[in-house]
Amino acid sequence: MITQSPLKLAVLVSGNGSNLQAIIDAIEAGSINARITCVVSNNPDAFALKRAIKHGVTTVIHQNQNFSNRREYDSALVQILKDHEVELVILAGFMRLLSEIMVNAFPHAIVNIHPALLPAFPGLHAQKQALDYGVRYSGCTVHLVDCGTDTGPIILQAVVPIEHNDTEETLSARIQREEHRCFPEAIRLFADGKIQVNGRHVHISP
Ligand code: GRF
Repeated sequence: MITQSPLKLAVLVSGNGSNLQAIIDAIEAGSINARITCVVSNNPDAFALKRAIKHGVTTVIHQNQNFSNRREYDSALVQILKDHEVELVILAGFMRLLSEIMVNAFPHAIVNIHPALLPAFPGLHAQKQALDYGVRYSGCTVHLVDCGTDTGPIILQAVVPIEHNDTEETLSARIQREEHRCFPEAIRLFADGKIQVNGRHVHISP
């Protein structure tokens, strides 16, 4: 029997890191054949860093202000990720847009999670956008990253109903429960070699 070596991941974060935690938990439980070779944060105070350290995962702080523009920041980021032999880049609440430097360095190998059903409500405050618009359902989307804002090909989505008394906080919490299920599932599909991309379409092998 040929066993595949674990897929090498980088998880990029800026804040709480509950999605990072869900990914770590799934790897530790043996349900994803992957290894996180580094967690990179642009925020030195991100709680996600504490989560990584607690689980013995290497952390790198890569701050915005040390670079004069996005391309310089991304060039240094590519180097960090290559140094850690990263094969798949996971954006888990990483509050920066990526330039073509990053996107071209990891073709079809950067994945983001967005707290809405794309293409509805891209960008910041997606949960508030959904509530303000008055939709009955929102959710989360795991997608590949291109140079646009939340515009890359869609891998997985989960639907969440909106309740009549929802606030941004209650809706966010309900969406996050689905995020913590969908994101590890999408990574598992990559690790098992089940993802193929054809233009805007992501094919998932059975
Ligand atoms: C998530 O809601 C995700 O959809 C968005 O950023 C948030 C990150 O949350 N991209 P956490 O840091 O993983 O808790």
